Amino acid sequence: MTGGRRTAVVTGSGRGIGKATVELLEAQGVHVVGVDLTGADINVDLSTPEGRAALEAGVLERCPSGIDVIVANAGVLSDDELSVQVNYFGAVETLERLRPMLRADAPRAVVVASRSVLKPVDDAIVEACLDGDEARAVALARQSDSRHLLYATSKRAIARWIRRNAALPVWAGAGIALNGVGPGAVLTPMIAERDPAEQARLAVERPMPLGGMATAEEVAELIVFLADAKNSKIAGQLIFIDGGGETLMGHEDIWETMMRKTSGKP
Ligand SMILES: NC(=O)c1ccc[n+]([C@@H]2O[C@H](COP(=O)([O-])OP(=O)(O)OC[C@H]3O[C@@H](n4cnc5c(N)ncnc54)[C@H](O)[C@@H]3O)[C@@H](O)[C@H]2O)c1
Repeated sequence: MTGGRRTAVVTGSGRGIGKATVELLEAQGVHVVGVDLTGADINVDLSTPEGRAALEAGVLERCPSGIDVIVANAGVLSDDELSVQVNYFGAVETLERLRPMLRADAPRAVVVASRSVLKPVDDAIVEACLDGDEARAVALARQSDSRHLLYATSKRAIARWIRRNAALPVWAGAGIALNGVGPGAVLTPMIAERDPAEQARLAVERPMPLGGMATAEEVAELIVFLADAKNSKIAGQLIFIDGGGETLMGHEDIWETMMRKTSGKP
């Protein structure tokens, strides 16, 4: 490590949840490399293959002795293919390209997904994402007549990718704790930019039983915990941070399905 300091790469570092995560990590003495479209340490467009390759090159150049934490946070709330390109393929390539640079001492990776994983999705696009077929996923998104599903679709796909990969030899087998967070409504520019009627609709659509919207700082606390060396045993989880809203949207006995799939073997 650089003088014993941990180093974290945070995408979408310019504002909202990413910015709050950078500030909290830095307050804890972590060296942070911020990544965003502009104004960051590394300025790249994660919606494109070129931007993702430039991210890898930029981190290699800035952190030749390696990194300790990846926070794949950059995302867009858009009803077009950009959701798939940034929220899924941008996040996956951030994780895959930077994973080999993680040092052996307490490596961690955190993905910012969303509680939207619980909403209806376009299954064909989810499958194209998980097949790693960006051309097909983008083509399907462009043809889609249910564009309002594309954000949730991209987040469902990345949430499934976490569960599919976290226990593999290259992740947990290499000591890397890979997890996701699933925020409900968070008061960041992403939401604040929407008109008041849309914000009111979102508040109804995304109930927060604990009350109020989350702040970016509250979400950052969870991300930073999952990224910390002290988180030595949580892996493959999507932790909802939505004031308990997820429990209202899902089934009570979520374990029954898992138990059936594992034939009752714990
Ligand atoms: N705000 C919410 O209510 C909410 C809820 C659930 C999940 N999320 C997720 O949290 C994450 C952060 O969102 P936020 O609310 O802080 O949003 P935000 O719009 O305030 O910040 C997102 C950041 O990502 C960057 N970014 C966007 N596209 C990029 C690209 N192609 N390449 C590089 N950087 C790019 C933006 O420039 C911005 O700085 C996103 O993944 C979002 O989907 C947000």
